[in-house]
Amino acid sequence: MASEDADISKAAEVLKNGGVVAFPTETVYGLGAHALDETAVAKIFAIKQRPRFDPLIIHIADLSQLDGLVESLPEPALRLAERFWPGPLTLVLPKKPIVPDLVTAGHPTVAVRMPQHPLALKLLNSCGLPLSAPSANPFGQVSPTRAEHVEEQLGDQVDMIIDGGACAVGVESTIVSFAGDEPQLLRPGGTPKELIEETIGELSIPGEKQAQTASPGRLSRHYATRTPLVFADQAEPAQEGEKRGYLCLQAPASPHNYQAVEVLSSTGNLNEAASRLFAAMRRLDKLQLDLIVADRPPLEGLGRAMHDRLQRATQRHLEIPQEHQA
Ligand code: TXA
Ligand code: MG
Repeated sequence: MASEDADISKAAEVLKNGGVVAFPTETVYGLGAHALDETAVAKIFAIKQRPRFDPLIIHIADLSQLDGLVESLPEPALRLAERFWPGPLTLVLPKKPIVPDLVTAGHPTVAVRMPQHPLALKLLNSCGLPLSAPSANPFGQVSPTRAEHVEEQLGDQVDMIIDGGACAVGVESTIVSFAGDEPQLLRPGGTPKELIEETIGELSIPGEKQAQTASPGRLSRHYATRTPLVFADQAEPAQEGEKRGYLCLQAPASPHNYQAVEVLSSTGNLNEAASRLFAAMRRLDKLQLDLIVADRPPLEGLGRAMHDRLQRATQRHLEIPQEHQA
């Protein structure tokens, strides 16, 4: 694994030659390839085993790169970019023809963000390319927040992994779409909805079905552990001998009922809790438990994104929308 300057230059070369590099962002690790090189992008889909109906986010290092990718930038979108970039916010905008259909899954829009991690920005600047990058995990599974997570799951398939330590935000970017008449929140994430609304006014929130059409990656089951997961307020009383883990927001009232407890933030800080969520899910998932019980995060700040990810992890079945079924 690599993190030195020389390694960034090497990774930039790999990307220019159509390779795939896993790199840290402030949200989660991404699996990057040259966004305008269809053959390179196809490798991402193959490595992740990601269905081709699920479009990718393009990462840029400078606002000037946006011009080459999108047809237009509505004024409220510009205001968001100016306030939150670099940062955990993705904007969905009308695409230019140069953006391959593979990247956008045939949609007339493209999702773009400027990540905040210094190594991500160094890499983007060093290669000078827009990089398509989904989270660096096999499709449907928990996103990686440390280089080791990528190494474990995809280490033998990527050309290089850049190690930037633990991701500070820990949940994926918030996605706001400007495809329709009014801005829509397609995915709650690292930029709180409250702050976005403070900047551009109220966001519309599509229903689950509509959200899946607008943002095909929003399948009901996602971010999933192998171990079944339920919210604490939905858990049945434990059976005799049943092994349970507890994913706890703050201090647990009765830790002795559990085989293992993960406290996400001893002070109840939602930002800290979000940054630790995915790694804690992975640790519990390795313990051969029968069930993971999770506290339900409040629907405020980063709690909204945590609630969304956990809610999806409670779904046991991966539903492929009918229109995409073979
Ligand atoms: O924080 C993040 O956003 C991370 C890091 C690596 O940047 N990336 C990430 O990518 O979460 P991924 O591929 O795991 O999730 C991208 C989401 C998917 O749900 C996809 O459907 C949606 O973005 N998306 C991409 N392009 C879109 C488009 N043109 N219209 C609507 N949704 C889009
Ligand atoms: Mg993902």
